[in-house]
Amino acid sequence: MKLLVTGGAGYIGSVVTAQLLAADHEVVVVDDMSTGHADAVPAGATLVQGTLRSSARPVLDGGGFDAVLHFAAKSLVGESVQQPGLYWDKNLGETLALLDAMRISGVSRIVFSSTAATYGEPESTPIMETDPTRPTNPYGASKLAIDTCLTSFAALHGLGAVSLRYFNVAGACGPYGERHAVETHLIPNVLAVARGARESVSLFGDDYPTPDGTCIRDYIHVADLAAAHLLALGSCRPGTHEIYNLGSGDGSSVAEVVGVCRAVTGHPIPVVTSPRRTGDPAVLVASSAKIQAALGWKPSRDLHAMVADAWAFLQ
Ligand code: UFG
Repeated sequence: MKLLVTGGAGYIGSVVTAQLLAADHEVVVVDDMSTGHADAVPAGATLVQGTLRSSARPVLDGGGFDAVLHFAAKSLVGESVQQPGLYWDKNLGETLALLDAMRISGVSRIVFSSTAATYGEPESTPIMETDPTRPTNPYGASKLAIDTCLTSFAALHGLGAVSLRYFNVAGACGPYGERHAVETHLIPNVLAVARGARESVSLFGDDYPTPDGTCIRDYIHVADLAAAHLLALGSCRPGTHEIYNLGSGDGSSVAEVVGVCRAVTGHPIPVVTSPRRTGDPAVLVASSAKIQAALGWKPSRDLHAMVADAWAFLQ
């Protein structure tokens, strides 16, 4: 297939692009390079630098594209609370420009990067796709609004859409991994200590109602996540919008993650217990039963593999 990958110079977009190329698809990446890296775009993909407002139409019009995989987004929860307008503009506004360009160009399939942040504080665990969506920050709200748009474009314009709601993505695939100018995620922060780039890692809260008092998250290897995108792509049906959670169904605590990082790196990794980070739910674990049943997707790499691959990437 001929595919447009938005945000293909970013962490997840680059890994998915590599898998798409390996599966013999033709890939054009559009990325505004605000957080992406040109050298992260896998060889064999064509890179167009620009926003979706400026580039989606010119790229898609007459280009013979079969589908779009849409990763381009702002994705920092804290930043979204400071600058909500930026998140509505870049996430929802740019996506509307993309959907309009798709409609005009007759491209009718899309796989979208949604997020666990659309659910907000969960009522029960594991989280099912049918659970209430009450995002607690503009990042999650903007992604939920896009999911709502996709539902109406599917019903009214015949779009075939799949949203994948990621839980905590980690790990790397060979040369493609996480390289954020502003790093907020746990595993890269812990590994930065092992690499000597920082003295210690802050552990945000040890008084949560969990067995060891630290927050529990559902970590998923970026390679397993990427594989789900290829299955989702093959499953897009005109006039339908499906939403799937992507997680392992298993939670690991922050303290457990630090323990795995110590085991993988052999570094003592000093930890400083700090106050809770605002807005962190105690437990976020996905039910992935729906995608397992519908598409036969199953994660195959555990937390140890995620940390080992992220560590190899950082070396
Ligand atoms: N944490 C630390 N120290 C750090 C970084 C994180 O203790 O230096 C803790 C956090 O408090 C949290 C856990 O590690 O308990 C995981 O934090 P991350 O920042 O790695 O990930 P989040 O669970 O906050 O965020 C993820 C995605 C977001 C998404 C969110 C859904 O990265 O994009 O899940 O709620 F919005």
